[in-house]
Amino acid sequence: MHFLPTGPSYNGAPLDRDALGDDPIEAVRRWLDEAYVAQVPQPNAMSLATASEGGRPSVRTVLLKSIDSGLVFFTNYGSMKAAELEANPWGAVSLTLLTLHRQVRAAGRVERITAAESDEYFITRPRGAQLAAAASSQSRVLGDRQELVDRMAQLDDSYPDVVPRPPHWGGYRLLPSRVEFWQGRLDRMHDRVEFVRHGDTWLSRLLWP
Ligand SMILES: Cc1cc2nc3c(=O)[nH]c(=O)nc-3n(C[C@H](O)[C@H](O)[C@H](O)COP(=O)(O)O)c2cc1C
Repeated sequence: MHFLPTGPSYNGAPLDRDALGDDPIEAVRRWLDEAYVAQVPQPNAMSLATASEGGRPSVRTVLLKSIDSGLVFFTNYGSMKAAELEANPWGAVSLTLLTLHRQVRAAGRVERITAAESDEYFITRPRGAQLAAAASSQSRVLGDRQELVDRMAQLDDSYPDVVPRPPHWGGYRLLPSRVEFWQGRLDRMHDRVEFVRHGDTWLSRLLWP
């Protein structure tokens, strides 16, 4: 075997289970806030795992755009991830906040957000990103990059003012039934706190690292 270089040694502050509070979704928000303050690069980039109906997993990065009753991300409703979510509406995400030696994981049901919610976010996007969302047939085979360039130009001409949100683009909300906070500590003696939803409340417990 040829081993890759040794990574950073984790030596974060102890993770106090009580300091996480009773609501893990609020705690995710606080960890994100702390990550922005600590200038963690792109802290809202999260790996999103989905699975086919037959249970074969796939994973990719999406941006976490809202933390409310769940974790919201935006994508193309014709993409591979969307096809998997429509057939099997369960997903899992992981955020790595490397410079804080932290990881957040969550898993649960994934639902489409409302059209009004997708509109609300779409209008905040830069024009280029709006046109790209409209132009893309995400995850389908592209014969030639020029097709994408031409479609962008066509849409730019068609919509000189406002770009309407295309119906094939919008958000999903992952409603966590499990959330885990991982704090890297010296000598791999990491702290892990798991929250599991029971009805309207959350139970928390420590996990071995
Ligand atoms: C940093 C980063 C952020 C990304 N954010 C998104 C996103 O918010 N939404 C999205 O659809 N794809 C995003 N992508 C692209 C996806 O990782 C992926 O390539 C694309 O969504 C197609 O995935 P699928 O074929 O599994 O559906 C991002 C990629 C990176 C590297």
